[in-house]
Amino acid sequence: MDLRSLIPLTYLIAAVTFVLGLKGLSGPKTAVNGNRIAAAGMLLAVGATFFDVEFQSYGTTGLLVTAAGLVVGGAAGFVGARLVKMTAMPQMVALFNGAGGGAAALVSILELMRGLGGAGVTPGETITSMLGLIIGAVSFSGSAIAFGKLQGLITPRAFKYGGQQIVTSVLFGGMIVLSLLLTASVASTVGVPQLAVMTGVALLALLFGVALVMPIGGADMPVVISLLNAFTGLAVAAAGFVLGNQLLIVAGTLVGASGTILTRLMSKAMNRSIANVLFGAFGAAPAGGGEVGGPMRADDGRTVRETTAEDAATLLAYARNVIIVPGYGLAVAQAQHNVRELADLLESRGVNVVYAIHPVAGRMPGHMNVLLAEANIPYEKLMDMDAVNPEFPRADVALVIGANDVTNPAARSTKGSPIYGMPILDVDKAQQIIVIKRSMKPGFAGIDNDLYLDPKTQMLFGDAKEAVAKLVAGVKAS
Ligand code: TAP
Repeated sequence: MDLRSLIPLTYLIAAVTFVLGLKGLSGPKTAVNGNRIAAAGMLLAVGATFFDVEFQSYGTTGLLVTAAGLVVGGAAGFVGARLVKMTAMPQMVALFNGAGGGAAALVSILELMRGLGGAGVTPGETITSMLGLIIGAVSFSGSAIAFGKLQGLITPRAFKYGGQQIVTSVLFGGMIVLSLLLTASVASTVGVPQLAVMTGVALLALLFGVALVMPIGGADMPVVISLLNAFTGLAVAAAGFVLGNQLLIVAGTLVGASGTILTRLMSKAMNRSIANVLFGAFGAAPAGGGEVGGPMRADDGRTVRETTAEDAATLLAYARNVIIVPGYGLAVAQAQHNVRELADLLESRGVNVVYAIHPVAGRMPGHMNVLLAEANIPYEKLMDMDAVNPEFPRADVALVIGANDVTNPAARSTKGSPIYGMPILDVDKAQQIIVIKRSMKPGFAGIDNDLYLDPKTQMLFGDAKEAVAKLVAGVKAS
Protein backbone atom coordinates (compact mmCIF):
# COMPACT_ATOMS: atom_id res chain seq x y z
CA MET A 1 0.00 0.00 0.00
CA ASP A 2 1.23 3.48 -0.86
CA LEU A 3 1.82 5.21 2.45
CA ARG A 4 1.40 8.59 0.72
CA SER A 5 -2.31 8.01 0.35
CA LEU A 6 -2.55 7.98 4.15
CA ILE A 7 -1.16 11.51 4.55
CA PRO A 8 -4.57 13.32 4.36
CA LEU A 9 -6.03 10.84 6.87
CA THR A 10 -3.06 11.37 9.20
CA TYR A 11 -3.53 15.15 8.95
CA LEU A 12 -7.21 14.73 9.78
CA ILE A 13 -6.34 12.65 12.86
CA ALA A 14 -3.79 15.29 13.89
CA ALA A 15 -6.40 18.06 13.50
CA VAL A 16 -8.80 16.08 15.73
CA THR A 17 -6.06 15.68 18.38
CA PHE A 18 -5.53 19.47 18.36
CA VAL A 19 -9.21 20.02 19.09
CA LEU A 20 -9.18 17.35 21.82
CA GLY A 21 -5.99 18.90 23.21
CA LEU A 22 -7.63 22.32 23.44
CA LYS A 23 -10.65 20.77 25.15
CA GLY A 24 -8.32 19.10 27.67
CA LEU A 25 -6.52 22.38 28.33
CA SER A 26 -9.77 23.94 29.53
CA GLY A 27 -9.46 22.30 32.98
CA PRO A 28 -6.49 21.75 35.32
CA LYS A 29 -7.30 18.05 35.79
CA THR A 30 -7.29 17.28 32.07
CA ALA A 31 -4.68 19.83 30.94
CA VAL A 32 -1.61 17.56 31.06
CA ASN A 33 -3.30 14.84 29.04
CA GLY A 34 -4.73 17.40 26.61
CA ASN A 35 -1.23 18.70 26.00
CA ARG A 36 0.11 15.18 25.45
CA ILE A 37 -2.65 14.30 22.98
CA ALA A 38 -2.03 17.45 20.90
CA ALA A 39 1.76 16.88 21.00
CA ALA A 40 1.29 13.29 19.81
CA GLY A 41 -0.90 14.58 16.96
CA MET A 42 1.79 17.07 15.96
CA LEU A 43 4.45 14.33 15.99
CA LEU A 44 2.21 12.21 13.75
CA ALA A 45 1.70 15.09 11.33
CA VAL A 46 5.43 15.88 11.16
CA GLY A 47 6.18 12.18 10.55
CA ALA A 48 3.59 12.00 7.75
CA THR A 49 5.15 14.99 5.99
CA PHE A 50 8.32 12.95 5.38
CA PHE A 51 6.28 10.77 2.95
CA ASP A 52 5.07 13.77 0.94
CA VAL A 53 6.09 13.58 -2.76
CA GLU A 54 7.25 17.17 -2.89
CA PHE A 55 9.25 16.78 0.30
CA GLN A 56 10.90 13.66 -1.07
CA SER A 57 11.84 15.53 -4.24
CA TYR A 58 14.32 17.57 -2.16
CA GLY A 59 16.43 14.41 -1.83
CA THR A 60 18.93 13.58 0.87
CA THR A 61 19.92 17.22 1.48
CA GLY A 62 16.30 18.19 2.18
CA LEU A 63 15.93 15.20 4.50
CA LEU A 64 19.11 15.99 6.42
CA VAL A 65 18.36 19.71 6.77
CA THR A 66 14.82 18.98 7.99
CA ALA A 67 15.99 16.28 10.40
CA ALA A 68 18.65 18.64 11.77
CA GLY A 69 16.01 21.36 12.25
CA LEU A 70 13.76 18.89 14.06
CA VAL A 71 16.54 17.72 16.38
CA VAL A 72 17.79 21.23 17.23
CA GLY A 73 14.28 22.73 17.57
CA GLY A 74 12.89 19.71 19.43
CA ALA A 75 15.82 19.65 21.89
CA ALA A 76 15.64 23.41 22.51
CA GLY A 77 11.88 23.20 23.10
CA PHE A 78 12.13 20.15 25.36
CA VAL A 79 14.99 21.47 27.51
CA GLY A 80 13.53 24.99 27.61
CA ALA A 81 10.10 23.77 28.71
CA ARG A 82 11.64 21.50 31.38
CA LEU A 83 13.85 24.22 32.84
CA VAL A 84 11.53 27.23 32.64
CA LYS A 85 10.24 28.60 35.92
CA MET A 86 6.49 29.08 36.22
CA THR A 87 6.98 32.85 36.61
CA ALA A 88 8.96 32.96 33.34
CA MET A 89 6.24 31.18 31.36
CA PRO A 90 4.90 34.31 29.58
CA GLN A 91 8.32 35.07 28.02
CA MET A 92 8.71 31.40 27.06
CA VAL A 93 5.37 31.58 25.24
CA ALA A 94 6.53 34.81 23.57
CA LEU A 95 9.66 33.06 22.33
CA PHE A 96 7.76 30.06 20.89
CA ASN A 97 5.14 32.33 19.43
CA GLY A 98 7.70 34.59 17.75
CA ALA A 99 9.40 31.55 16.24
CA GLY A 100 6.04 30.40 14.78
CA GLY A 101 5.35 33.85 13.28
CA GLY A 102 8.86 34.08 11.84
CA ALA A 103 8.56 30.62 10.28
CA ALA A 104 5.21 31.50 8.69
CA ALA A 105 6.71 34.72 7.27
CA LEU A 106 9.69 32.82 5.80
CA VAL A 107 7.41 30.19 4.22
CA SER A 108 5.35 32.96 2.61
CA ILE A 109 8.44 34.72 1.17
CA LEU A 110 10.00 31.50 -0.13
CA GLU A 111 6.80 30.22 -1.72
CA LEU A 112 6.18 33.55 -3.41
CA MET A 113 9.74 33.66 -4.73
CA ARG A 114 9.39 30.09 -5.98
CA GLY A 115 6.16 30.94 -7.77
CA LEU A 116 7.55 34.14 -9.27
CA GLY A 117 10.64 32.29 -10.51
CA GLY A 118 8.62 29.34 -11.90
CA ALA A 119 5.04 28.82 -12.99
CA GLY A 120 4.00 32.33 -11.88
CA VAL A 121 1.51 33.37 -9.18
CA THR A 122 -2.00 34.73 -9.23
CA PRO A 123 -2.95 37.99 -7.46
CA GLY A 124 -4.92 35.88 -4.94
CA GLU A 125 -1.84 33.82 -4.09
CA THR A 126 0.21 36.99 -3.79
CA ILE A 127 -2.26 38.57 -1.37
CA THR A 128 -2.32 35.40 0.78
CA SER A 129 1.48 35.28 0.80
CA MET A 130 1.77 38.96 1.72
CA LEU A 131 -0.72 38.46 4.57
CA GLY A 132 1.34 35.54 5.87
CA LEU A 133 4.52 37.58 5.54
CA ILE A 134 3.18 40.74 7.20
CA ILE A 135 1.31 39.09 10.09
CA GLY A 136 4.12 36.60 10.71
CA ALA A 137 6.84 39.29 10.71
CA VAL A 138 4.82 41.58 13.03
CA SER A 139 4.31 38.64 15.39
CA PHE A 140 8.02 37.75 15.23
CA SER A 141 9.42 41.19 16.08
CA GLY A 142 6.58 42.04 18.49
CA SER A 143 7.13 38.78 20.38
CA ALA A 144 10.89 39.42 20.48
CA ILE A 145 10.30 42.83 22.10
CA ALA A 146 7.76 41.26 24.52
CA PHE A 147 10.34 38.62 25.45
CA GLY A 148 13.03 41.30 25.96
CA LYS A 149 10.75 43.35 28.20
CA LEU A 150 9.68 40.42 30.36
CA GLN A 151 13.22 39.05 30.61
CA GLY A 152 14.53 42.49 31.64
CA LEU A 153 16.77 42.76 28.55
CA ILE A 154 15.08 46.03 27.60
CA THR A 155 13.17 48.46 29.78
CA PRO A 156 9.82 46.99 30.81
CA ARG A 157 8.32 50.48 31.00
CA ALA A 158 6.03 51.81 28.30
CA PHE A 159 8.25 53.60 25.76
CA LYS A 160 6.26 56.61 24.60
CA TYR A 161 7.46 59.26 22.15
CA GLY A 162 5.97 62.17 20.22
CA GLY A 163 4.47 61.33 16.83
CA GLN A 164 4.11 57.66 17.79
CA GLN A 165 0.79 57.26 16.00
CA ILE A 166 2.16 58.93 12.87
CA VAL A 167 5.13 56.53 12.80
CA THR A 168 2.92 53.43 13.17
CA SER A 169 0.44 54.76 10.58
CA VAL A 170 3.26 55.43 8.07
CA LEU A 171 4.70 51.93 8.62
CA PHE A 172 1.27 50.36 8.22
CA GLY A 173 0.45 52.42 5.12
CA GLY A 174 3.84 51.59 3.60
CA MET A 175 3.26 47.85 3.98
CA ILE A 176 -0.16 48.05 2.35
CA VAL A 177 1.02 50.20 -0.59
CA LEU A 178 4.03 47.98 -1.32
CA SER A 179 1.91 44.83 -1.06
CA LEU A 180 -0.65 46.25 -3.52
CA LEU A 181 2.18 47.21 -5.86
CA LEU A 182 3.50 43.67 -5.79
CA THR A 183 0.04 42.19 -6.33
CA ALA A 184 -0.55 44.50 -9.31
CA SER A 185 2.83 43.56 -10.76
CA VAL A 186 2.03 39.83 -10.87
CA ALA A 187 -1.26 40.57 -12.64
CA SER A 188 0.31 42.73 -15.35
CA THR A 189 3.53 42.65 -17.30
CA VAL A 190 4.82 45.80 -15.60
CA GLY A 191 8.24 44.85 -14.27
CA VAL A 192 8.70 45.57 -10.59
CA PRO A 193 11.85 44.49 -8.78
CA GLN A 194 9.70 42.07 -6.82
CA LEU A 195 12.36 40.80 -4.43
CA ALA A 196 13.18 44.37 -3.36
CA VAL A 197 9.50 45.12 -2.74
CA MET A 198 9.10 41.94 -0.72
CA THR A 199 12.16 42.77 1.37
CA GLY A 200 10.75 46.26 1.91
CA VAL A 201 7.43 44.84 3.16
CA ALA A 202 9.25 42.41 5.47
CA LEU A 203 11.37 45.23 6.97
CA LEU A 204 8.35 47.51 7.44
CA ALA A 205 6.41 44.66 9.10
CA LEU A 206 9.32 43.95 11.48
CA LEU A 207 9.52 47.65 12.39
CA PHE A 208 5.74 47.78 12.83
CA GLY A 209 5.92 44.90 15.35
CA VAL A 210 8.58 46.80 17.34
CA ALA A 211 6.62 50.08 17.14
CA LEU A 212 3.45 48.30 18.28
CA VAL A 213 4.90 46.62 21.39
CA MET A 214 7.54 49.14 22.61
CA PRO A 215 4.94 51.65 23.91
CA ILE A 216 3.24 48.97 26.03
CA GLY A 217 4.18 48.56 29.71
CA GLY A 218 6.04 45.29 30.40
CA ALA A 219 3.38 44.06 32.81
CA ASP A 220 0.72 44.25 30.08
CA MET A 221 2.74 41.77 28.05
CA PRO A 222 0.67 38.63 28.79
CA VAL A 223 -2.31 40.21 27.02
CA VAL A 224 -0.12 41.39 24.15
CA ILE A 225 1.52 37.97 23.84
CA SER A 226 -1.89 36.36 23.65
CA LEU A 227 -2.83 38.80 20.87
CA LEU A 228 0.43 38.14 19.01
CA ASN A 229 -0.30 34.45 19.45
CA ALA A 230 -3.58 34.97 17.60
CA PHE A 231 -1.61 36.82 14.89
CA THR A 232 0.78 33.88 14.56
CA GLY A 233 -2.20 31.56 14.14
CA LEU A 234 -3.47 33.72 11.27
CA ALA A 235 -0.01 33.83 9.67
CA VAL A 236 0.26 30.03 9.91
CA ALA A 237 -3.21 29.62 8.37
CA ALA A 238 -2.14 31.95 5.52
CA ALA A 239 1.03 29.86 5.06
CA GLY A 240 -1.23 26.79 4.93
CA PHE A 241 -3.19 28.37 2.04
CA VAL A 242 0.06 29.25 0.27
CA LEU A 243 1.37 25.69 0.61
CA GLY A 244 -2.01 24.06 0.05
CA ASN A 245 -1.59 22.29 3.39
CA GLN A 246 -4.91 21.65 5.16
CA LEU A 247 -3.32 20.80 8.49
CA LEU A 248 -1.57 24.18 8.71
CA ILE A 249 -4.87 25.89 7.88
CA VAL A 250 -6.69 24.00 10.66
CA ALA A 251 -3.89 24.43 13.23
CA GLY A 252 -3.44 28.12 12.38
CA THR A 253 -7.16 28.80 12.61
CA LEU A 254 -7.38 27.04 15.98
CA VAL A 255 -4.47 29.09 17.36
CA GLY A 256 -5.91 32.29 15.88
CA ALA A 257 -9.36 31.67 17.37
CA SER A 258 -8.18 30.53 20.81
CA GLY A 259 -5.65 33.39 21.01
CA THR A 260 -8.38 35.90 20.20
CA ILE A 261 -10.77 34.42 22.79
CA LEU A 262 -8.05 34.39 25.46
CA THR A 263 -7.08 38.00 24.71
CA ARG A 264 -10.71 39.06 25.07
CA LEU A 265 -11.18 37.13 28.31
CA MET A 266 -8.05 38.65 29.86
CA SER A 267 -8.96 42.19 28.84
CA LYS A 268 -12.49 41.69 30.15
CA ALA A 269 -11.24 40.42 33.52
CA MET A 270 -9.03 43.52 33.77
CA ASN A 271 -11.97 45.68 32.64
CA ARG A 272 -9.94 47.12 29.78
CA SER A 273 -10.46 47.11 26.05
CA ILE A 274 -7.79 45.58 23.82
CA ALA A 275 -7.28 49.08 22.36
CA ASN A 276 -6.60 50.37 25.87
CA VAL A 277 -3.96 47.66 26.44
CA LEU A 278 -2.33 48.46 23.10
CA PHE A 279 -2.49 52.23 23.23
CA GLY A 280 -2.88 53.12 26.95
CA ALA A 281 0.21 53.32 29.19
CA PHE A 282 -1.22 51.17 32.01
CA GLY A 283 1.58 49.46 33.91
CA ALA A 284 3.90 52.38 33.28
CA ALA A 285 2.82 54.22 36.42
CA PRO A 286 5.66 54.94 38.85
CA ALA A 287 5.86 53.04 42.15
CA GLY A 288 4.62 54.91 45.25
CA GLY A 289 7.01 56.61 47.68
CA GLY A 290 7.22 56.36 51.48
CA GLU A 291 9.14 54.46 54.13
CA VAL A 292 8.58 50.95 52.82
CA GLY A 293 7.89 51.88 49.23
CA GLY A 294 4.46 53.45 49.69
CA PRO A 295 2.47 55.59 52.14
CA MET A 296 1.99 54.16 55.65
CA ARG A 297 -0.50 56.91 56.44
CA ALA A 298 -3.43 58.36 54.49
CA ASP A 299 -4.19 62.09 54.23
CA ASP A 300 -7.24 61.57 56.45
CA GLY A 301 -5.05 60.21 59.30
CA ARG A 302 -5.71 56.48 58.79
CA THR A 303 -2.53 54.46 59.32
CA VAL A 304 -1.32 51.02 58.30
CA ARG A 305 -1.39 48.48 61.12
CA GLU A 306 1.53 46.04 61.27
CA THR A 307 1.31 42.63 62.92
CA THR A 308 3.71 39.85 63.90
CA ALA A 309 3.68 36.28 62.64
CA GLU A 310 2.79 35.06 66.16
CA ASP A 311 -0.28 37.30 66.46
CA ALA A 312 -1.42 36.51 62.92
CA ALA A 313 -0.98 32.77 63.58
CA THR A 314 -3.13 33.01 66.71
CA LEU A 315 -5.87 34.75 64.75
CA LEU A 316 -5.79 31.98 62.13
CA ALA A 317 -5.59 29.12 64.61
CA TYR A 318 -8.78 30.21 66.40
CA ALA A 319 -10.78 31.08 63.26
CA ARG A 320 -13.61 28.94 61.87
CA ASN A 321 -13.53 30.08 58.26
CA VAL A 322 -10.39 31.24 56.50
CA ILE A 323 -10.19 32.38 52.87
CA ILE A 324 -6.70 32.40 51.38
CA VAL A 325 -6.24 34.96 48.58
CA PRO A 326 -3.19 34.13 46.46
CA GLY A 327 -1.59 36.62 44.05
CA TYR A 328 1.48 37.30 41.98
CA GLY A 329 3.74 37.60 45.08
CA LEU A 330 2.94 33.99 46.04
CA ALA A 331 4.24 32.89 42.64
CA VAL A 332 7.37 35.05 42.96
CA ALA A 333 8.13 33.62 46.41
CA GLN A 334 7.20 30.05 45.34
CA ALA A 335 5.37 29.72 48.63
CA GLN A 336 2.70 27.30 47.39
CA HIS A 337 4.03 24.29 49.37
CA ASN A 338 4.20 26.33 52.59
CA VAL A 339 0.64 27.53 51.97
CA ARG A 340 -0.51 23.93 51.60
CA GLU A 341 1.24 23.05 54.88
CA LEU A 342 -0.47 25.95 56.64
CA ALA A 343 -3.89 25.01 55.23
CA ASP A 344 -3.43 21.33 56.22
CA LEU A 345 -2.46 22.38 59.72
CA LEU A 346 -5.44 24.69 60.08
CA GLU A 347 -7.81 22.04 58.73
CA SER A 348 -6.45 19.50 61.20
CA ARG A 349 -7.60 21.96 63.89
CA GLY A 350 -11.09 22.09 62.38
CA VAL A 351 -10.70 25.37 60.48
CA ASN A 352 -12.49 25.51 57.14
CA VAL A 353 -10.03 26.76 54.48
CA VAL A 354 -10.78 27.73 50.86
CA TYR A 355 -8.87 29.69 48.21
CA ALA A 356 -10.24 32.71 46.34
CA ILE A 357 -9.11 32.73 42.70
CA HIS A 358 -9.31 35.95 40.71
CA PRO A 359 -9.22 35.36 36.93
CA VAL A 360 -6.23 37.68 36.42
CA ALA A 361 -4.35 37.12 39.68
CA GLY A 362 -0.68 36.61 38.85
CA ARG A 363 0.66 37.31 35.39
CA MET A 364 -0.88 34.71 33.12
CA PRO A 365 -4.22 32.98 32.67
CA GLY A 366 -4.76 30.25 35.24
CA HIS A 367 -1.53 31.25 37.05
CA MET A 368 -2.90 30.63 40.56
CA ASN A 369 -4.64 27.37 39.58
CA VAL A 370 -1.40 25.97 38.17
CA LEU A 371 0.64 27.20 41.12
CA LEU A 372 -1.67 25.70 43.75
CA ALA A 373 -2.01 22.48 41.74
CA GLU A 374 1.81 22.17 41.95
CA ALA A 375 1.40 21.82 45.73
CA ASN A 376 -1.43 19.27 45.25
CA ILE A 377 -4.00 21.57 46.79
CA PRO A 378 -7.35 19.87 46.09
CA TYR A 379 -9.08 21.53 43.15
CA GLU A 380 -12.42 21.61 45.02
CA LYS A 381 -10.87 24.07 47.50
CA LEU A 382 -10.33 26.65 44.75
CA MET A 383 -13.30 29.01 44.42
CA ASP A 384 -13.84 31.34 41.48
CA MET A 385 -14.44 35.04 42.14
CA ASP A 386 -18.21 34.90 41.64
CA ALA A 387 -18.59 31.91 43.95
CA VAL A 388 -16.29 33.15 46.71
CA ASN A 389 -17.31 36.81 46.93
CA PRO A 390 -20.55 36.12 48.87
CA GLU A 391 -18.44 34.05 51.32
CA PHE A 392 -16.17 36.90 52.47
CA PRO A 393 -18.57 38.40 55.06
CA ARG A 394 -18.71 34.93 56.70
CA ALA A 395 -14.90 34.56 56.73
CA ASP A 396 -13.27 35.18 60.12
CA VAL A 397 -9.95 35.83 58.37
CA ALA A 398 -9.01 36.61 54.77
CA LEU A 399 -5.32 35.81 54.38
CA VAL A 400 -3.98 37.74 51.38
CA ILE A 401 -0.65 36.35 50.17
CA GLY A 402 1.16 38.47 47.58
CA ALA A 403 -2.08 39.73 45.98
CA ASN A 404 -2.67 43.43 45.58
CA ASP A 405 -4.66 44.86 42.63
CA VAL A 406 -7.20 42.03 42.66
CA THR A 407 -8.16 43.07 46.22
CA ASN A 408 -8.15 46.85 45.75
CA PRO A 409 -11.53 48.40 46.72
CA ALA A 410 -10.66 51.42 44.51
CA ALA A 411 -11.91 49.27 41.63
CA ARG A 412 -15.41 49.59 43.12
CA SER A 413 -15.33 53.13 44.47
CA THR A 414 -12.68 55.41 42.93
CA LYS A 415 -13.89 56.64 39.55
CA GLY A 416 -10.55 58.04 38.34
CA SER A 417 -8.56 54.92 39.29
CA PRO A 418 -6.97 52.98 36.40
CA ILE A 419 -8.61 49.82 37.75
CA TYR A 420 -12.07 51.37 38.27
CA GLY A 421 -14.69 48.86 37.13
CA MET A 422 -12.38 45.82 37.29
CA PRO A 423 -14.18 43.05 39.19
CA ILE A 424 -12.28 42.35 42.43
CA LEU A 425 -12.30 39.88 45.31
CA ASP A 426 -14.37 41.38 48.17
CA VAL A 427 -11.60 40.85 50.72
CA ASP A 428 -12.55 44.02 52.60
CA LYS A 429 -15.86 42.38 53.58
CA ALA A 430 -14.09 39.72 55.71
CA GLN A 431 -14.13 40.07 59.52
CA GLN A 432 -10.34 40.32 59.76
CA ILE A 433 -7.73 40.68 57.03
CA ILE A 434 -4.08 39.69 57.11
CA VAL A 435 -1.96 40.84 54.16
CA ILE A 436 1.45 39.31 53.48
CA LYS A 437 3.76 41.37 51.24
CA ARG A 438 7.25 42.76 51.53
CA SER A 439 6.54 46.48 51.53
CA MET A 440 3.90 49.10 50.77
CA LYS A 441 4.93 49.12 47.10
CA PRO A 442 2.08 48.87 44.61
CA GLY A 443 1.39 45.90 42.35
CA PHE A 444 1.01 45.67 38.59
CA ALA A 445 -1.31 48.69 38.18
CA GLY A 446 1.13 50.94 40.07
CA ILE A 447 -1.48 52.31 42.48
CA ASP A 448 -1.87 52.33 46.27
CA ASN A 449 -4.34 49.97 47.89
CA ASP A 450 -6.88 51.38 50.35
CA LEU A 451 -7.38 47.89 51.79
CA TYR A 452 -4.11 48.34 53.70
CA LEU A 453 -5.55 51.34 55.56
CA ASP A 454 -8.74 49.47 56.52
CA PRO A 455 -8.99 49.22 60.35
CA LYS A 456 -9.67 45.47 59.93
CA THR A 457 -6.40 44.93 58.04
CA GLN A 458 -3.08 43.90 59.55
CA MET A 459 0.07 43.84 57.45
CA LEU A 460 2.58 41.05 57.90
CA PHE A 461 5.60 42.40 56.04
CA GLY A 462 8.03 39.89 54.57
CA ASP A 463 8.69 37.46 51.77
CA ALA A 464 5.63 35.23 51.33
CA LYS A 465 7.54 31.97 51.73
CA GLU A 466 9.25 33.03 54.95
CA ALA A 467 6.13 34.69 56.35
CA VAL A 468 3.94 31.61 55.72
CA ALA A 469 6.62 29.34 57.23
CA LYS A 470 6.54 31.54 60.35
CA LEU A 471 2.73 31.30 60.41
CA VAL A 472 3.02 27.48 60.30
CA ALA A 473 5.39 27.58 63.27
CA GLY A 474 3.08 30.02 65.05
CA VAL A 475 -0.05 27.87 64.54
CA LYS A 476 1.84 24.79 65.78
CA ALA A 477 2.83 26.69 68.91
CA SER A 478 -0.66 28.03 69.69
P1 TAP B 1 -0.17 42.50 41.88
O1 TAP B 1 -1.23 43.52 41.96
O2 TAP B 1 0.85 42.62 40.83
O3 TAP B 1 0.56 42.53 43.30
C1 TAP B 1 1.48 41.57 43.67
C2 TAP B 1 2.05 41.95 45.03
O4 TAP B 1 2.89 40.88 45.43
C3 TAP B 1 2.89 43.20 44.98
O5 TAP B 1 2.20 44.29 45.53
C4 TAP B 1 4.15 42.83 45.77
O6 TAP B 1 4.29 43.71 46.88
C5 TAP B 1 3.87 41.41 46.28
N1 TAP B 1 5.05 40.56 46.21
C6 TAP B 1 5.93 40.44 45.20
N2 TAP B 1 6.89 39.56 45.52
C7 TAP B 1 6.59 39.09 46.74
C8 TAP B 1 7.21 38.16 47.61
N3 TAP B 1 8.35 37.51 47.29
N4 TAP B 1 6.63 37.92 48.81
C9 TAP B 1 5.51 38.59 49.17
N5 TAP B 1 4.89 39.48 48.39
C10 TAP B 1 5.43 39.73 47.19
O7 TAP B 1 -0.74 41.01 41.81
P2 TAP B 1 -2.22 40.45 41.76
O8 TAP B 1 -3.03 40.97 42.90
O9 TAP B 1 -2.05 38.97 41.59
O10 TAP B 1 -2.85 41.10 40.47
C11 TAP B 1 -2.42 40.75 39.18
C12 TAP B 1 -2.27 42.01 38.37
O11 TAP B 1 -1.62 41.67 37.14
C13 TAP B 1 -3.60 42.65 38.00
O12 TAP B 1 -3.50 44.05 37.97
C14 TAP B 1 -3.85 42.09 36.60
O13 TAP B 1 -4.69 42.94 35.83
C15 TAP B 1 -2.44 42.07 36.06
N6 TAP B 1 -2.26 41.14 34.93
C16 TAP B 1 -2.66 39.87 35.04
C17 TAP B 1 -2.55 39.02 33.98
C18 TAP B 1 -3.05 37.63 34.10
S1 TAP B 1 -3.58 36.91 32.80
N7 TAP B 1 -3.06 37.02 35.25
C19 TAP B 1 -1.98 39.46 32.79
C20 TAP B 1 -1.51 40.78 32.74
C21 TAP B 1 -1.65 41.60 33.82
P3 TAP B 1 5.75 43.93 47.54
O14 TAP B 1 6.64 44.37 46.45
O15 TAP B 1 5.50 44.94 48.58
O16 TAP B 1 6.15 42.61 48.13
